[in-house]
Amino acid sequence: MNSSAIAVSGLRKTYGDKVVLDGIDLEVRAGTVFSLLGPNGAGKTTTVNVLTTLLKADGGTARVAGHDIDTEAKAVRSVIGVTGQFAAVDELLTGQENLQLMVDLLGVNSGEQVIAGLLARFDLVESAQKPVSTYSGGMRRKLDLAMTLVGKPKIIFLDEPTTGLDPRSRRTMWTIIRGLVADGVTIFLTTQYLDEADQLADRIAVLDQGKLVAEGTPDELKRQLPGTHVRLRFSTVEELDAAARIFTDSTRDDEAMDLRVPSDGGTKSLRAVLDRLDEYSISAEEFSVHTPDLDDVFLALTGHNTEVAAK
Ligand SMILES: Nc1ncnc2c1ncn2[C@@H]1O[C@H](COP(=O)(O)OP(=O)(O)OP(=O)(O)O)[C@@H](O)[C@H]1O
Ligand SMILES: [Mg+2]
Repeated sequence: MNSSAIAVSGLRKTYGDKVVLDGIDLEVRAGTVFSLLGPNGAGKTTTVNVLTTLLKADGGTARVAGHDIDTEAKAVRSVIGVTGQFAAVDELLTGQENLQLMVDLLGVNSGEQVIAGLLARFDLVESAQKPVSTYSGGMRRKLDLAMTLVGKPKIIFLDEPTTGLDPRSRRTMWTIIRGLVADGVTIFLTTQYLDEADQLADRIAVLDQGKLVAEGTPDELKRQLPGTHVRLRFSTVEELDAAARIFTDSTRDDEAMDLRVPSDGGTKSLRAVLDRLDEYSISAEEFSVHTPDLDDVFLALTGHNTEVAAK
């Protein structure tokens, strides 16, 4: 296997006359986290399903761990692990039994040790003997990922692993993902959360309506945007007008009633902004320092906002 874990070229998928993937090109280097970011319906799950050989593409090629997804599907399956968007655990079995099922299915040697190790790693020892129907959403997700790890895959596809999790469980999941990467695993992660991609990914591709609209490191994507600025929100148009006249390099948003003044975010330049407002006896209703985040990237690239809040 060369250094490219996943290489995709011109991937297409249609349902009837609906184009779901419209020529996707991407490359994921081995041992890195690649995040496919996009809103509901962008085509994330479709991409995962095609790359994991669950679904046939209509065009284009893809190699996973050097194997062609069309002609070498079996070889692809032997090196990957998939944790789908919806937890694929058996409700009636206990956590331990679910893991045992995977051990039996894959014919893993010293299965007991593997299971004990995974239960400990995912903090599921106490609930191991309880049926999954009594698990919380976060516990199910962890068990689901633990089941994926039974076969020690080199490349793992995680489809929205943290959607619906509370902030603490999300962080636990992030720690687990970082641990996998430290062990040399390649992660292909889909998410609707911009901060998640920012936190975890080496590279991010933004998918919108079946097309990649941007690709790069989190910093590269952020660099495509206007820089740090101070946001001043006013309660009257008169105040907004007056402030716009004194901050000539600012941009205004009449709908939001705010003014964006370029600033490095340091105390000196912040004080200067406040002093000028004072000088002209203008008071702002709200004052905030804004550093561009991936939500801005998404807005700038697709012209519409994400449907799910980033934080
Ligand atoms: N089996 C199917 N038949 C017809 N259309 C489908 C099918 N599966 C998916 N689609 C359509 O393909 C598009 C992409 O769906 P996909 O599930 O890949 O999106 P997604 O990015 O994973 O969204 P989400 O964030 O909601 O999971 C959607 O418009 C969806 O309606
Ligand atoms: Mg999906």
